Amino acid sequence: MRDILPPESARWRRFVRHFDDIVSRAGYGQIVPPLLEDIGVFHRVGEATDIVTKEMYDFVDKGERHVALRPEQTASVCRAFVQHRPATPWKVWYSGPNFRYEKPQRGRYRQFDQVGIEVLGADDPLLDVEVIALGWRFLSSLGLRKVGLSINSLGEPADRAAFVVALEAHFQSNIDRLTPESRATLLKNPLRVLDSKRPEDVSVISEAPRISDFHGEVARDSFAAVLDGLRALGIPFVVDEKLVRGLDYYRLTTFEFVGGTLDSAQNALGGGGRYDGLVEDLGGPATSGVGFAIGLDRTLLACDDEGVFPVEERNLDAFVVDTTGGTHALVLTELLRTNGFSADRAYENRSMKSQMKAADRSGARYAIIVGSDEASAGTVVLRPLREVGEQTTIGREELLSTLKKVQS
Ligand code: HAM
Repeated sequence: MRDILPPESARWRRFVRHFDDIVSRAGYGQIVPPLLEDIGVFHRVGEATDIVTKEMYDFVDKGERHVALRPEQTASVCRAFVQHRPATPWKVWYSGPNFRYEKPQRGRYRQFDQVGIEVLGADDPLLDVEVIALGWRFLSSLGLRKVGLSINSLGEPADRAAFVVALEAHFQSNIDRLTPESRATLLKNPLRVLDSKRPEDVSVISEAPRISDFHGEVARDSFAAVLDGLRALGIPFVVDEKLVRGLDYYRLTTFEFVGGTLDSAQNALGGGGRYDGLVEDLGGPATSGVGFAIGLDRTLLACDDEGVFPVEERNLDAFVVDTTGGTHALVLTELLRTNGFSADRAYENRSMKSQMKAADRSGARYAIIVGSDEASAGTVVLRPLREVGEQTTIGREELLSTLKKVQS
């Protein structure tokens, strides 16, 4: 778990604001689910996945309730849907931290942030396209260029079940060729063996049955419609039949946004898909769902690698330098701030030199200087810090109007 300090924290806020902008314009409203839920809410995320079996931060609270810090937010959104029964289609977005007890490394943390969207109660495959397009557009708008879209369809539950049986039979009959890690995965969830990136597993995996051979009519039609929709929007994609995703609730469309600059174990910037049974599993009516989450920590690493969406320089309007030791700096910064300017000042009655250094460091456009002459004349010196220009001495009553003028 990490501390996010300024100025990086400002970039985080900008990231979320930017996401809010894009998805709000597409009709999504914000949901703020709690960090903590009854552990049962998360069981459906994947009883056969590490996220649920090994990585949850769970404990029994003072009321003897078994609770967990959320490892993701899709299950919470579905729980909220069941609880509040909003009109459908229910389009929501979220941001915030999630917790998984993973082995930390670059791009993988125990507390990490996501932004995401979910739509509940609409079956249309073109909605899958809208969802994917929003994620794609968001990542592009950060300036990222080395991002790929991988897509697959896991079929309907019956297709998927038949595929899992065939997959299990294939891996069982080739068990000697699998690594011990993959053998252990096979016992829990044959689908997840497809995730293995260990070179020794590659050939058995490449000979495995393909999910597309198990697609029924619904899955075939829906997947074709999704791919056609992506083509219509000019969004490039790669069909990856091995893309099963790390959570159990998916059916039909699954997808990942893959970062081109990151290590392959952590290169998914975001992912999502359809999860038509999840609301029902949580005690609600049969309701379809589709969405994605994008990892903020990891996406910012990709931005650093590509040199885009940089930390912004601080851009204060003014820094007040007061060498009189009185209350001028206090009063002037307050005046500026209440009139809509951003302003800062130095403290502890430092020397002129030290205060000017602080003014430079602050990134302010202007220093507003008050020495004993200005104090007695009721004036201030306005000195440009970031552009060439002469300093001017002006009356205090002109300060606000002059600043407004030079700013526009
Ligand atoms: P996920 O693939 O588990 O999906 O996570 C989505 C993204 O969160 C990942 O692609 C990654 O960027 C980020 N992420 C996950 N774990 C970590 C970690 N330990 N450290 C840093 N970043 C991480 C979900 O969470 C689903 N709820 C997505 C979804 C929404 N599906 C449907 N709707």
